[in-house]
Amino acid sequence: MKFYEEKDYDALSQRAANIIAAQIVTKPDCVLGLATGSSPVGTYKRLIEKYENGDLDFSQVKTANLDEYKGLTRDNDQSYYYFMHENLFDHVNICPENTNIPDGTKEDSETECAHYEEVIASLGGVDLQLLGLGHNGHIGFNEPACDFPQATHCVDLQESTIEANKRFFASADDVPRQAYTMGIGTIMRAKKILLVVSGEDKADIVAKAFFGPVTPEVPASILQFHPDVTIVGDKAAFSKI
Ligand code: GLP
Repeated sequence: MKFYEEKDYDALSQRAANIIAAQIVTKPDCVLGLATGSSPVGTYKRLIEKYENGDLDFSQVKTANLDEYKGLTRDNDQSYYYFMHENLFDHVNICPENTNIPDGTKEDSETECAHYEEVIASLGGVDLQLLGLGHNGHIGFNEPACDFPQATHCVDLQESTIEANKRFFASADDVPRQAYTMGIGTIMRAKKILLVVSGEDKADIVAKAFFGPVTPEVPASILQFHPDVTIVGDKAAFSKI
């Protein structure tokens, strides 16, 4: 695993955007696995700047997002569909038909999850997967569990995740209780992984996930087994390693 310690959130966002830009320049029709949450917002801002400066072309780039809340429509401002359009897609020259996000409005979980795995396979797999890190070690919405889930599946969100994400909703009651997420297997099949993490509140989980035992109780710990992982964090997030 490669660790880049940056002085603050801005610097880590710049670093992460440079790594993604390097991927796009090297392979203009690459498949990017994308993430939501507050951690990658700065990275997306920097990518937009690079596009606006004429340094980056998204016209052939394809994307597959990690996860989506089950039950939220695309026009709901808390859906990850909405988030991705607001924070990236609407500001760069990406073709809408090249972007993929699990469809949270599909009631039949099994069919939607199987379909999403087929979509990723039809893209030829993910070249670079961007990840954030949940306080309990979740990646995507793979919550601590007894096993590492292989493929895209429907999860029941844990109380701690609902608590952490309620800041984006009117109240905790409005946070959906379920989500569709790529599995740990889906994530581990990406050729490269880039995880962004910031803030002192993530320092404990960074130490546990990347320097502790590999266990499904800390889903991100499996990244220790991936051959090409880059972790970009600020000083605060790396303060316990
Ligand atoms: C959410 C998302 C994850 C994200 C995590 C951390 O639950 N499903 O993909 O990485 O929370 O979010 P944040 O970056 O806001 O701390």
